[in-house]
Amino acid sequence: MVPLAEQYPWTTLPFIVGAPMRQLAMARLAVEVSAAGGFGFIGAGESLDEVDSYLEQAASLVKGHELLQTYYEKSGVLPVGFGFFDWAPAEDLEKCMVAVKKWKPAAVWQFGAYKNQDYAVWAEKIRKMGEGKTQVWIQVGSVADALEVAKTARPDVLVVQGTDAGGHGLETGAGIISLLPEVADALDATGITDINLIAAGGIMDGRGVAATLVLGANGACLGTRFLASEEANIGNGYRQEVIRASDGGMNTARTKIYDKLRGTTLWPVGYNARGVLNQSFHDHNAGLALEENRKLYDEAMKQGDAGWGVNGRITTYAGTGVGLVKSVMKGGDIVKELQQQALRRLEAVTPKL
Ligand SMILES: Cc1cc2nc3c(=O)[nH]c(=O)nc-3n(C[C@H](O)[C@H](O)[C@H](O)COP(=O)(O)O)c2cc1C
Repeated sequence: MVPLAEQYPWTTLPFIVGAPMRQLAMARLAVEVSAAGGFGFIGAGESLDEVDSYLEQAASLVKGHELLQTYYEKSGVLPVGFGFFDWAPAEDLEKCMVAVKKWKPAAVWQFGAYKNQDYAVWAEKIRKMGEGKTQVWIQVGSVADALEVAKTARPDVLVVQGTDAGGHGLETGAGIISLLPEVADALDATGITDINLIAAGGIMDGRGVAATLVLGANGACLGTRFLASEEANIGNGYRQEVIRASDGGMNTARTKIYDKLRGTTLWPVGYNARGVLNQSFHDHNAGLALEENRKLYDEAMKQGDAGWGVNGRITTYAGTGVGLVKSVMKGGDIVKELQQQALRRLEAVTPKL
């Protein structure tokens, strides 16, 4: 297996990934994360027409960072990635492939396929259009999916998503502490040893990063923590709610209600999303009809920042670790802090012989 830091030479260890959060993690955040030694992903929207312009923006922002720009000029590889959902219409995904050919992002991240075989189809196209420069990452949430995807799509990286993750994922699943090692063992047992594993779900600080390395991951991916970055493309009401919310096991839930209210209903069977509990959620549980709930949601959308919060109605997708996110920081400072904390933590728990 090629070590990640060799594969992506602008990165430093421990390997930190900024998740491709749809319409929230855009070029600005992705480049900021990569410039600090992490690997930043752009989250493409439902309409994938814009991927070309997102990558163009990233290429332009890269010019402001000498190390990234030098790497880009020498290798022709744009030192960020982008993520898409495999459930998007094929004609949209084909447009993404054209953008891959033009910009050669370091990786394309797939997630949310109707069937695992779809990942293999797009993996082949990404490799072809990327001309050996663009790697394939696939996010999975179970041991069975990890094995099937590893065998059929042969990704360069599997992102293993535990059930604590914010945003979309499998309705049922395990926490990363058991999921990651079980995936690693299952791959080993089938002789697949060339896929790097990235842990995702519930990792908020350096302690979480250190834990995933101890579990056997090659790096850690964070979404919720980067929502509280200066570069996230996020409303102030949303960001403040991420800072405010705590005790995520009690105050977030995996549910489909937010998708229903937002009209994002193309997700495959078996997926839902984790968000902070709010009035829409409570009213739904109390039996409020969807149509009525949707009307109230649409009204809340007009309130701007005031529409978020415990008594608000606008969706706050975030993971169970949300209570560990306490302040807004620059994305690059988050990467550095995660790395330093993780190294300190690993040193602190290593017995001195
Ligand atoms: C607000 C939000 C949006 C997300 N959007 C995407 C997405 O567009 N594509 C994707 O593959 N994963 C998405 N994810 C999931 C992340 O890839 C990752 O699994 C998750 O953030 C990790 O858990 P954490 O939030 O506890 O760090 C999203 C997560 C959040 C919190």
